[in-house]
Amino acid sequence: NSAVRDRLRIAIQKSGRLSEPARALLASSGLSWRESRDKLFCYGESLPVDLLLVRDDDIPGLIADGVCDLGIVGRNVLVEQAGERAEAGKPEVFREWRSLGFGACKLSLAVPDDWTWEGPSQLAGKRIATTYPNLLRGWLREQGVQAEAVVLNGSVEIAPRLGQADVICDLVSSGATLAANQLKPVLDILQSEAVLAGPAQPFGDVRAELADLLLRRMDGVLRIRD
Ligand code: PRP
Ligand code: ZN
Ligand code: MG
Repeated sequence: NSAVRDRLRIAIQKSGRLSEPARALLASSGLSWRESRDKLFCYGESLPVDLLLVRDDDIPGLIADGVCDLGIVGRNVLVEQAGERAEAGKPEVFREWRSLGFGACKLSLAVPDDWTWEGPSQLAGKRIATTYPNLLRGWLREQGVQAEAVVLNGSVEIAPRLGQADVICDLVSSGATLAANQLKPVLDILQSEAVLAGPAQPFGDVRAELADLLLRRMDGVLRIRD
């Protein structure tokens, strides 16, 4: 899908929880760029590896379209979009290459504080607000529970109070957002963390060697951190 290129392009989150640790990991792996914080494209200096600063949700699509070669993104985003593609009958074009050991969080089901949780069957007929409809529907199917996914792209935690949904399925890190919205986690659907995402098929040009070199260095950095 991607044209022949002699530089590698890595997409990372522009601003958010994964931005700094992603940059730090790449810098520890020996990459450097002409520094300019507001530039969305950072030209690689030490190696022909450029950086693209984007919305995390756009990263799998950029790899699918061949605009980017690799990306650092939450497993939750990657698995959700892979499922979406599979559902639409599209081929697998990106996958998880490595887990990176930072940005740990869980995709959890959370219910209002005053609920007495009795198990998944309690969700039958309920409306569940989420940014991850594919993951949620897959899980509901496994449980044999029929419920409605209400898709929201942000501020999912407020949906129950607005009467837009009964419960939510969202990312939990510290748990502070849930607590602040009188919700409690009852079940984990996915364990997530930052991952290196790459194409499902190997590169057919010099990018293969660049990616190998980068992976070796990254693995070295991750080993030392353990
Ligand atoms: C995530 C997630 C929750 C919150 C959970 O949102 O969607 O809202 O963090 O974190 P906590 O358990 O530590 O409170 P984030 O702020 O990353 O932004 P986004 O949803 O807009 O991508
Ligand atoms: Zn996001
Ligand atoms: Mg959020």
